[in-house]
Amino acid sequence: MTPPHQHPYDNVLDTIGWTPIIRLRRVVGSIRTPVYGKAEFFNPGGSVKDRIGAAIIEDAERRGELTPGGVIVEGTSGNTGVALALAATQKGYRCIFTMPDKMSQEKVRLLKAFGAEVIITPTAVPPDHPDNYVVKAKTIAQNTPNAIFANQFYNQANVEAHYRTTGPELWEQTEGRITHLVGSAGTGGTMSGAGRFLKEQNPSVKVVVGDPEGSVFCDYHRSREVGEGETYKVEGIGGDKLPETLHFDLVDEFHTVSDRDSFQMARRLTKEEGLFVGGSSGLNVHVALKVARELDDPSACVVVILCDTGERYLSKLFNDEWMRENQMLESDQVTAAQMLAAKPEATPQLVTVEPSHTVRQALNLMSTYGVSQLPIIENGDCVGSLSEGSVMAKAIASPVVLDQPVHEVMEAAYPIVDAEFAVEGFSELLSRETPAVLVRLNDELAGIVTRYDVLHQVAGIR
Ligand SMILES: Cc1ncc(COP(=O)(O)O)c(C=O)c1O
Repeated sequence: MTPPHQHPYDNVLDTIGWTPIIRLRRVVGSIRTPVYGKAEFFNPGGSVKDRIGAAIIEDAERRGELTPGGVIVEGTSGNTGVALALAATQKGYRCIFTMPDKMSQEKVRLLKAFGAEVIITPTAVPPDHPDNYVVKAKTIAQNTPNAIFANQFYNQANVEAHYRTTGPELWEQTEGRITHLVGSAGTGGTMSGAGRFLKEQNPSVKVVVGDPEGSVFCDYHRSREVGEGETYKVEGIGGDKLPETLHFDLVDEFHTVSDRDSFQMARRLTKEEGLFVGGSSGLNVHVALKVARELDDPSACVVVILCDTGERYLSKLFNDEWMRENQMLESDQVTAAQMLAAKPEATPQLVTVEPSHTVRQALNLMSTYGVSQLPIIENGDCVGSLSEGSVMAKAIASPVVLDQPVHEVMEAAYPIVDAEFAVEGFSELLSRETPAVLVRLNDELAGIVTRYDVLHQVAGIR
């Protein structure tokens, strides 16, 4: 396969597709089955939906429904809007999008940045209610001259785009070794189109779909009955109405996943794999690891769709306050900064000495502030430490020590951690040899965490 981007492109639409597949390692851990991420956030609009934007427009042009100066109307969770707006910038069409109010502000601003008009609708309305974002878009399209309704949930051009592009790429990039395609479904276009292509190449390829808790898809796949949906926070996937673009007969397995597990995995992918993705990718990888663990087969090849960029969720899943408010950040995930903040006011955050200070001065400081560990700081860096017990022993053995500079009797410097460092990590750092750890806050040494502080936090020892 020729390396990508070798020649100039005529316009941005020609750069859509041929997104890389990247091996996942840290989140996979000791699971023997190889797992790869299909990085759809590499697309110019930042999501898997870029593949259907131009495809839906060109299909409407071919059928004579969309003519120059036309208007494109769609109900979107944001990404399809970006894809349509991106294509419309190159083809000279206007865009009007309706969007449920649960979607992030980033997504609204993004659509406006591409020149689209955005109408916000209430999330918690029944699927056939006039204010439902899809129903609203349909009405606007009917009442707007020379407008088309993109209708992604019923438009088979959506599925065809993935049958023609995503499927063949996965097959070629894995040299036909793919055994499991894992993803989730909003319209279902990705999994139906790519899944159909892959099963035509190798009928034993498994199509595995993750579904948010509260969506009706998973239960429908099992019971063929459409239940009552509940609202959930993961964006772009699942639903309370069955889309015609989700071909259930092609799906081998459905797995339900909570918002919390989806968001936690998205945060891990960013921190541990350097893949900055959104909640639906977190959900997909949560399912992919479950499948890979059960398979436990090094010769298998699991590929999971990484749907969109995490940029769109900075005010949500990547915002600790928002995660805490929504009970999705482990409350026991206490950070070093929180441990410092929890210390009694009376205790000075950080009592230190310089290498030239005498042992006597250091001991006086310890008794003045009631501390038993002292970091020795030079130019803002910890160069050594003093613990009351060992200094006392040395001074009793030979009192001349008291007038010696501390750098002559000091012990090893304390390790330094950042403010977000989780309390669980301290047990690994603290030991008999390392009685304390320093905490850096805004590039400055701001406090000290001792074994006592950790016991106090973890075991509630007073
Ligand atoms: C973030 C995100 N993930 C996944 C999907 C699902 O893609 P599809 O509609 O092809 O099922 C969407 C669809 O909008 C999405 O926005």
